[in-house]
Amino acid sequence: MTRETDPSISGRRAAETPRELTGRLVRAAAERLAAAGVPSPDFDAAELLAHVLGTTRPGLALVDEVTEDERARFDALVGRRAAREPLQHLTGTATFRYVELAVGPGVFTPRPETELLAGWGVERAQAAVTEGRSPVVVDLCTGSGAIALGIATEVPQARVHAVELSEDALAWAERNLAGTGVDLRQGDLADAFPDLDGEVDVVVCNPPYIPLDAYESVAPEARDHDPHLALFSGDDGLQAMRVLERTAARLLRPGGVVGAEHADVQGEAAPAVFVAAGRWADVRDHRDLAGRPRYLTARLAR
Ligand SMILES: C[S@@+](CC[C@H](N)C(=O)[O-])C[C@H]1O[C@@H](n2cnc3c(N)ncnc32)[C@H](O)[C@@H]1O
Repeated sequence: MTRETDPSISGRRAAETPRELTGRLVRAAAERLAAAGVPSPDFDAAELLAHVLGTTRPGLALVDEVTEDERARFDALVGRRAAREPLQHLTGTATFRYVELAVGPGVFTPRPETELLAGWGVERAQAAVTEGRSPVVVDLCTGSGAIALGIATEVPQARVHAVELSEDALAWAERNLAGTGVDLRQGDLADAFPDLDGEVDVVVCNPPYIPLDAYESVAPEARDHDPHLALFSGDDGLQAMRVLERTAARLLRPGGVVGAEHADVQGEAAPAVFVAAGRWADVRDHRDLAGRPRYLTARLAR
């Protein structure tokens, strides 16, 4: 058997096209990931191979050789993914709306469902621009800086401020927000930005929202690799939401708006925090692309 015919060595099998070669490697890896319970095995296998080969998933069809070293690196990454390390930790990046963020240990990996909340923030900031104002936007609990960076990129007229409590997460946000003009500070959402009281147009927040006793139900990627400070929030998962409600009321100008992500089981409980406070109008809940309750919005009435 030669290098041409032995798939365990590296190259293409005789008469195998580039598309067939990478397809074969991806299929074998996807089977391994599926057996390990990875939710999107085909996508993840293709992403990891593309990462190792320095190309994109569509670009895999154009690759005509995979060296022994590349194959070994791919194999090692597939093994780590099968052990449920997040895909984004293995590639080092997460895509969020139109931006790429550096992510890794110590920071919450941005999720696709949060793109909807960020999109709402973009729309509200753009609406203020249309009214001739330069909107002030605050991202509380910024993590990697995903929502702040998304809004700053899509609405360059916005003045964006972001706060994060964790030192480890802050280091990632500093890296992602460098040179963007976003005002990033370390601090607690409870007393963040006293200098902006009553001046903010839009507050966005993806707070921790999982009840402490739901630990066992959290997927291994999140439970073992997202910081616990990013996930858990008291017995009912709404502790940070209550703090957010008070901070948003302090920061917003009259008529300013807040949007906050919550767990899919909090479609009534999370908006109820705002309704109970008695100072919000237009309290609404919004669903994600899978039809699950995902984020609330409200307007400061006074
Ligand atoms: C669910 S993550 C969201 C991160 C990012 N906004 C995103 O959507 O990808 C929640 C973040 O809130 C931070 N956090 C938790 N408690 C906080 C507090 N009291 N003040 C500020 N940030 C806090 C965590 O460290 C974590 O980075």
